[in-house]
Amino acid sequence: MGLLATLLTTFVLTFCLGSLAVRALKSQLFTRRGGSSSSAGIPISYKTLYFEQKIDHFGFLEDGTFKQRYLIADKHWQQPGGPIFFYTGNEGDITWFCNNTGFMWEIAEEFGAMLVFAEHRYYGESLPFGADSYSDNKHLNYLTSEQALADFAVLVQNLKSTFPGAQNSPVIAVGGSYGGMLAAWFRMKYPHIVVGALASSAPIWQFPGMVPCGDFYKIVTQDFAKSGSDCDKNIRMSWKAIENVSSTASGLQWLSEEFGLCAPLKSKSDIAGFKNWLQETWVNLAMVDYPYEANFLQPLPPWPIQAVCKYLSFSGSVPDYHLLHGVSQATKVYYNYTGSSPCLNTSQTATGSLGFLGWFYQACTEMVMPMCTDGIQDMFEPEEWNFQAFSDGCNARFGARPRADWAGTVYGGKDIAAHSNIIFSNGGLDPWSAGGVNHNITDSLISILIPDGAHHLDLRYTNDHDPPSVRAARALEVNYFHKWIKHAKKIHRASVFKLH
Ligand SMILES: *[C@@H]1O[C@H](CO)[C@@H](O)[C@H](O)[C@H]1NC(C)=O
Ligand SMILES: *[C@@H]1O[C@H](CO)[C@@H](O)[C@H](O)[C@H]1NC(C)=O
Ligand SMILES: *[C@@H]1O[C@H](CO)[C@@H](O)[C@H](O)[C@H]1NC(C)=O
Ligand SMILES: *[C@@H]1O[C@H](CO)[C@@H](O)[C@H](O)[C@H]1NC(C)=O
Ligand SMILES: *[C@@H]1O[C@H](CO)[C@@H](O)[C@H](O)[C@H]1NC(C)=O
Repeated sequence: MGLLATLLTTFVLTFCLGSLAVRALKSQLFTRRGGSSSSAGIPISYKTLYFEQKIDHFGFLEDGTFKQRYLIADKHWQQPGGPIFFYTGNEGDITWFCNNTGFMWEIAEEFGAMLVFAEHRYYGESLPFGADSYSDNKHLNYLTSEQALADFAVLVQNLKSTFPGAQNSPVIAVGGSYGGMLAAWFRMKYPHIVVGALASSAPIWQFPGMVPCGDFYKIVTQDFAKSGSDCDKNIRMSWKAIENVSSTASGLQWLSEEFGLCAPLKSKSDIAGFKNWLQETWVNLAMVDYPYEANFLQPLPPWPIQAVCKYLSFSGSVPDYHLLHGVSQATKVYYNYTGSSPCLNTSQTATGSLGFLGWFYQACTEMVMPMCTDGIQDMFEPEEWNFQAFSDGCNARFGARPRADWAGTVYGGKDIAAHSNIIFSNGGLDPWSAGGVNHNITDSLISILIPDGAHHLDLRYTNDHDPPSVRAARALEVNYFHKWIKHAKKIHRASVFKLH
């Protein structure tokens, strides 16, 4: 969600969404980003190619095409017939995902696999209408997960028919976060094209009526509760302390100075934005609570929530100013770990800029993900899920209203036992695991739990500080890949035998 939320405050102020709708939107922006990546010394090297895709796969009126970007790494590929690992790109620049999916780079040699990273339409360079792609709802109309999956299917078929030696290559889909949802759905919708899928941290059940709307924020809260004594309790109290302190002009000034804000807080609506920004900061920390120093949404120390909680461990009640000093120290762990932020910008919660607007649109149409808080089981101010308010905000912004039940209808919701060969991996620290598949559905719809893992830790490069649970998860994933590939080859041989 992070970065996208960056511009969220601007979004809020400019478009006057209700704050609950805003929170729902924000919570859905869960792009993976990263800085320098290759830790294991596996060099990232790929060719960048473009494929001519139909703008509309499902109707026959719009006949235009656009160039979809994809990356190929075939250094280790054993042809003919070596497997293809296909990353189903999510809401951002595909090179970021490519650089941050060390798992694929690390296993390519063992499998003699070709790696393909396909960019999702409307993100990065893959813009169906160029600079006009976001200009209005007519141009945005082709931004759906179904169109993206069709792009992937057409691309795979083209690769297999044009790449010498790829004709019989088994394809495995891999993705994290929204990309993980796409990987799972790719296998479900196109089982003749992909033999299996690894869907890491993929909240395919974070849709209306499938999981309780409060679970996401409960997990965020648990992460803080177990990372320092009274840490969650003090954050829960901080909202009221902010109200107290900001009720006077001198208090507002103190807050602005204490947090080192780039722009001083002036009004009530600034305070609402400030609180949203803090809330989002805690959520982002939960997503990237990795055991080692990493640069994902921001450069951060190992186990960043523990580092944050060192400043929030007061027991009993402390004066508001004292508490908020702790909060400001804590936020600076997130925003100023490298000491290079002259001031904190409340319009920004992660560095860089990826496809926030595209994801807003997706959240406002198909990807409706209810979120709520009660302030009791979680450490946030109570806020109900209000679909109507959310829908009104979407309509005001995009001239489009969300279809609450569509994702369930098109992708099966909880009723997916008829499918096969999908691994759903989830980290226990990751709030998105709330909407993930956390039990084995059949012996080929497998759930792998990584109790000490944050958001798609398993897809990242191996690291000396990886907990045993993520090592075990990767080993199991690799086993399933071997199994699927072996089975696909057997079926292929049988069909060749029959033909002759
Ligand atoms: C990804 O890695 C390549 C090769 O190291 C680099 O050229 C490129 O800038 C990186 N992309 C991003 C978005 O960081
Ligand atoms: C906020 O002000 C109220 C009323 O003065 C006080 O009781 C409370 O302790 C203050 N702080 C917090 C965190 O509630
Ligand atoms: C960030 O850290 C640097 C170095 O310690 C410090 O000079 C700067 O004031 C900090 N920024 C904020 C907003 O606190
Ligand atoms: C704060 O972030 C917003 C959004 O990225 C940006 O437009 C603005 O210039 C930033 N302000 C400062 C003072 O850096
Ligand atoms: C699902 O089955 C696999 C393979 O038997 C096992 O390793 C895994 O722990 C099971 N997952 C859950 C959530 O029980």
